[in-house]
Amino acid sequence: AGGFVIAIDGPSGTGKSTVARRVAGRLGAGYLDTGAMYRIVTLAVLRSGVDPADDAAVAALLPTVDLVTPTDPDAQRHRLGDVDVSDEIRGQHVTLAVTPVSANPAVRAFLKQRQQDIAHSGRMVVEGRDIGTVIAPDATLKIYLTADAQERARRRHGQNRSVAAHAGQDLAAVALDLQRRDSHDQARTHAPLQAAEDAVLVDSSTLEAHETVSHILRLASERG
Ligand code: C5P
Repeated sequence: AGGFVIAIDGPSGTGKSTVARRVAGRLGAGYLDTGAMYRIVTLAVLRSGVDPADDAAVAALLPTVDLVTPTDPDAQRHRLGDVDVSDEIRGQHVTLAVTPVSANPAVRAFLKQRQQDIAHSGRMVVEGRDIGTVIAPDATLKIYLTADAQERARRRHGQNRSVAAHAGQDLAAVALDLQRRDSHDQARTHAPLQAAEDAVLVDSSTLEAHETVSHILRLASERG
């Protein structure tokens, strides 16, 4: 109690990150990208040569994973040890392997502790899949951001064009990858993707990012 957390959850490609970062900037709050944390752990798993689907081997690796996650919405550089991995974690090999790694209960417990510590460290906008349900069930405001599947694929495809690792991937392939990740995220046993009962559903299909941001800021100001 007494904290200030805005939880923003939803499937891939809704523009969550852009919106969450801007909401944090406008409120002078911190911003935590929990998806990036799952991606950094996944990169560590891939580098170690461990099978991402081997839950026990991945769990054994966790104590050696030294991840640094920024909370400044204007300076989002992610590190694994001393190395800046901000670009590499958006690559296709990580995007594929993050699904089994994020379904691993040991990985979720490892990151939950860190995410809750950061969420309670000040005014924070926290973005992910299970923030309103598991990480910050007492959040000041919970948003579940959606958009129709075609629009999400179109947005992600547009973003990917600036990422070398995705160059040449066509719209249909992007749509298929979003569908694969979301259905796994929704079906998993531990902390599946779902809207919290008290979340406000925001459909951004026909909204520009700045309109979604304004809408969330309005809701936030009503909650103090
Ligand atoms: O948000 P982003 O697409 O970077 O997240 C990558 C993956 O990390 C998601 O597809 C999901 O499997 C996982 N994730 C999760 N819980 C979160 C955030 C991300 O399981 N809170």
